[in-house]
Amino acid sequence: AAAVLAGCRGDGEPEAAPTTPATRRVELPAGLALGVATSAYQIEGAVGADGRGRSIWDEFCAVPGKIDDSSSGAVAADHYRRWEADLDLLTELGVASYRFSIAWPRIFPQGTGTVNPKGLDFYRRLVGRLRERGISPVATMYHWDLPQALQQRGGWENRDVAGWFGDYAETLVKALDGVDSWLTVNEPKIIVQQGYQRGWMAPGRRDEVAAGKVLHHLNLAHGRAVQAFRASGSKQARIGPCLAITPCYPFDESPESRQATRLADVTENTLYLEPLLKGSYPALTGALDPRAAGALRAAVRDGDLAVISEPVDFLGVNYYSPAVVDPTGEMLKRYPVSAAGWQQIHPGGLTDLLVRLHRDYGLEIVVAENGLPDTAGESPDADETRIGFLRDHLAATQAAMSQGVKVRAYHAWTLLDDFEWARGYTQRWGLVHVDFPSQRRTPKKSARWYADVIRTRSLEL
Ligand code: NOJ
Repeated sequence: AAAVLAGCRGDGEPEAAPTTPATRRVELPAGLALGVATSAYQIEGAVGADGRGRSIWDEFCAVPGKIDDSSSGAVAADHYRRWEADLDLLTELGVASYRFSIAWPRIFPQGTGTVNPKGLDFYRRLVGRLRERGISPVATMYHWDLPQALQQRGGWENRDVAGWFGDYAETLVKALDGVDSWLTVNEPKIIVQQGYQRGWMAPGRRDEVAAGKVLHHLNLAHGRAVQAFRASGSKQARIGPCLAITPCYPFDESPESRQATRLADVTENTLYLEPLLKGSYPALTGALDPRAAGALRAAVRDGDLAVISEPVDFLGVNYYSPAVVDPTGEMLKRYPVSAAGWQQIHPGGLTDLLVRLHRDYGLEIVVAENGLPDTAGESPDADETRIGFLRDHLAATQAAMSQGVKVRAYHAWTLLDDFEWARGYTQRWGLVHVDFPSQRRTPKKSARWYADVIRTRSLEL
């Protein structure tokens, strides 16, 4: 403002050069709940405690070469034992919403059959204490830790998994009535791509036919969970899917780039959005390997799409990175890349996808994850990159909301440094630093920054 007014002063005084760059305050809309997210296998540890069964990630981590630092989630951040102290961290942050996941093998050690009451009690206590603290519990039913006993019966390749998941979901919604929002399956796309096409995540398969079946069964399981939730008659709680959305941009203006981008958008987004929210799969040709497409088509039975498209209350979205697609369909890097390696930092992608999802599906949206890992060498006291990232993505959320998009909540990924799947502990994604040998928690500068944002409900850009 000073620079603009300088010419109007008329008093002949030379204007002093501003010493700090102009900043802009952005108010966060009152309807946007601010929170953080975690997942069970990534933080809980205690994999043998209280009758928990084994999961496909316990198995996968034991295969040499699968995890960068040969680690596992066996201890992780020991949250299963330290959960009350971790709730203190949430209170210090001042979050309105906390997203966590429930470990299926703690509830049903064999995947189906008899409930393990001790497993259920852990989440009952967690939900109860969250409520006491005035924090809204947002629970993910499945964040990748399938009971190994079910994997032995074919896992996600076996159509019966939809029924197993439906029963599990029924148990959860009945027992945990303090949960405000349920998310069904976390990122089915990543399960298909990394678990069944590339083999970089559990169960480590590279099998296009399996991938096609699994895709459909994940969707069917989601639908069965929504049905179980509706049958429970819950009045105040809500349910939705949790999809990793990747906005796809053409590398150049060529028709080839544009066409390749349209196909990438199917592979990345509409393959998961359309069956759930429109009741049909998009055209698969060119977007899926023909073997996967064939297996997917063959897996669809009469009535499945009605189950899959059971109406949901909101759309959960994880956003990390856009994709830039060249004429051959290759993904290129155009934006700055985070320490994750695969992640391009483009906050505008979040505005774009929120506006588009609102336009195409009209649902309220919950941002279920958004974040980035520390850059090597950054100390807990100087995680400026994370602060800039969260600030810009919150501003991008606000920008979408100012265009009429209804975003109910935003969850930063993640509360604690944790087990980052195939990357093990080599990437630190937490707002709170964890010294794993001592399990000491130290809030990073970004945690203090986020607490300030939550308190003032505004950002300084
Ligand atoms: C999304 C996944 O849901 C989460 O488990 C993972 O840690 C983050 N992406 C970061 O890669």
